[in-house]
Amino acid sequence: MRIFIEKDYDAMSRKAFEVIKEVIVNNPNAVLGLATGSSPIGMYQEMVKDHKENGTSYKNIKSVNLDEYVGLGEGDEQSYVTFMRENLFNHVDIDLNNTRLPNGKAVDLQKECDNYNAYLDSLKVDVQVLGIGSNGHIGFNEPNTPFGSVTHIVDLTENTIKDNSRLFNSIDEVPKQALSMGIKNIMQAKLLLLVASGKNKADAIYKTVKGDVCETVPASVLQLHNNVVIICDEDAASLIK
Ligand code: GLP
Repeated sequence: MRIFIEKDYDAMSRKAFEVIKEVIVNNPNAVLGLATGSSPIGMYQEMVKDHKENGTSYKNIKSVNLDEYVGLGEGDEQSYVTFMRENLFNHVDIDLNNTRLPNGKAVDLQKECDNYNAYLDSLKVDVQVLGIGSNGHIGFNEPNTPFGSVTHIVDLTENTIKDNSRLFNSIDEVPKQALSMGIKNIMQAKLLLLVASGKNKADAIYKTVKGDVCETVPASVLQLHNNVVIICDEDAASLIK
């Protein structure tokens, strides 16, 4: 596990960008595992800037995302597919046909999970970007999700609904369920790149890095992967320094 502590959110984002850019430069056909949330937005901004200034191309890049809310999808402002388009896909030359997220509006959600798993099994993800929930969740894998889990339907915890309500008009609008890659899918990526910013992530980062490996802290599974980069700002790293 390589841990970088950067002075603030912007420095964290630049460092994360360096890591992902190296993957893209080394392999213009790379498969990127992407994440939503506020943590990776700065990194996406760096990617867009670099694409515009230096012409780094995403023409042959494929992407898979970690998760999506049940009931939300294309055209919904709060959906993760909209988030990805607004923050990255619309601003680089990636082919939208090469981007994929679970479809939260699928009629048969279990079938959608099965199809997503089959798709993930057909690829090798070169780098999986991760944020972290204040309760240590990765993707939407809440505490006590089995490490052997694959893409599944998740009942979101009160904690996560509350954390994510800041992005909705009211807490009642936050979906109660999501589709999420499982921990096993995440662990199959060649490189895991976790970004964390802010004091409310400090406890989760402490448990991820220094705590026991246990299903009560989903991100602690990262200790079992042989190629992990964690980039924190000073606040998120305040308990591990
Ligand atoms: C959501 C997402 C996670 C993300 C987490 C933290 O729950 N499903 O993938 O890591 O939020 O979000 P933020 O980066 O906004 O704190």
